[in-house]
Amino acid sequence: MGENNKVVLGVTGGISAYKSADVCSKLKKRGYQVKVVMTKSAAEFIRPLTFETISQNSVTTEMFSQNKPYLDTEHISLARWGDIYLICPATANIIGKLANGIADDFLSTMLLAVESQVIIAPAMNSSMYKNPIVEENINKLKNHGYYFIKPDEGMLACGEEGAGRLPDSQIICDEVDDRIKKTVDQNIDNSLLKGKKVIVTAGATRENIDPVRYITNPSSGKMGYAVARAFINRGAIVTLIAASTDEKPPDDLHKVIRAFSAKEMYEKVMENLEDCDIVIKAAAVSDFTPKNYKDNKLKKEGKNEMVLELTSTRDILKEIGDKKGDRILVGFAAETSDLTQNAKDKLNRKNLDLIVANDITAEDAGFSKDINTAKLIFKDGNMLELDTMKKAELGEKIAKTVEKIIKEKNRP
Ligand SMILES: Cc1cc2nc3c(=O)[nH]c(=O)nc-3n(C[C@H](O)[C@H](O)[C@H](O)COP(=O)(O)O)c2cc1C
Repeated sequence: MGENNKVVLGVTGGISAYKSADVCSKLKKRGYQVKVVMTKSAAEFIRPLTFETISQNSVTTEMFSQNKPYLDTEHISLARWGDIYLICPATANIIGKLANGIADDFLSTMLLAVESQVIIAPAMNSSMYKNPIVEENINKLKNHGYYFIKPDEGMLACGEEGAGRLPDSQIICDEVDDRIKKTVDQNIDNSLLKGKKVIVTAGATRENIDPVRYITNPSSGKMGYAVARAFINRGAIVTLIAASTDEKPPDDLHKVIRAFSAKEMYEKVMENLEDCDIVIKAAAVSDFTPKNYKDNKLKKEGKNEMVLELTSTRDILKEIGDKKGDRILVGFAAETSDLTQNAKDKLNRKNLDLIVANDITAEDAGFSKDINTAKLIFKDGNMLELDTMKKAELGEKIAKTVEKIIKEKNRP
């Protein structure tokens, strides 16, 4: 757990707010991306700068920020960003507000818009915690699906003894791991990709010239592997056909098949096509290959020039498109000019359902990088321009988009 999962940490104004910094730090160490929202009272106990530094993200404290270049409905975008929401510590006040639908600051407003799992870690004086009104609020929220971490008993900051202490940060992070795992399991159960047989191709092909030389391209395979991971996370049965790449195959793959040249890639894809529902062609396959492979190393001796004759390789995507039947076919377009138009043409020519278009000349996109900036272009011409994001996140977006395409197809 942790890797690539996103936690929104809400910090409210309790004396144990400082412990939340350790929770934030441990979540980061476990590989989570963390964004922090603080109430005004929380900022009286611990400065936003602490969370900003630990989370490596800006901290939201204001509903009506002066510093925004445009009016972003951040309480909604942040309510969609997280895979899980943790309120730690949670004051009696935030519990009361949430139980009664009150939205009078950023945190409470965002929480009303959250549809993912919310974990609440209450911490307060034991009389407050045992107050029947607080108890009622907690029970009401539990009935609505909010998950509570039981506070510890012991000496409280106010000097009194009883239940109300924030548990150890390790325990809180273990609960986050556990809830995320349950959410993932639930997502798999509910996913339209569950049990679907998917071929993902990845990496760069190599076209051999002689025993020591080949033509290739800078594709690292990172994007294809991220797509494979995202489909596995939704319960798909994934066969990865990998050309040249240094990436480590994800756990729970159905099969990994290596295919180094465009010819091998063609053969392996076609061999596996019959028994598959979805094809995602993320590999960078050479369009040309040397016409004559030389069995012996080409020698330089006496030559100032050398002409290499190339012949075109088979167009795998086009051939799948021609016989795709009910399969869903997703392609990638790595372009250096007229990105949208070229990608749209490719989508139509090759009978794709979706094309992921990226401008490889852009600084924040493309080959070998861990991030990408892409446009998702659909068969009906609709286009979704995505922000720059990690390839893992883009893989998730592609998986979710394919789910939507399946849903549309299933619609009577
Ligand atoms: C020193 C001090 C410690 C506090 N500790 C807690 C606490 O542990 N739990 C709690 O529910 N409220 C505590 N409060 C009260 C909250 O700060 C107060 O109810 C505030 O309105 C909560 O705002 P918030 O929920 O928007 O963060 C404390 C107040 C002070 C001054």
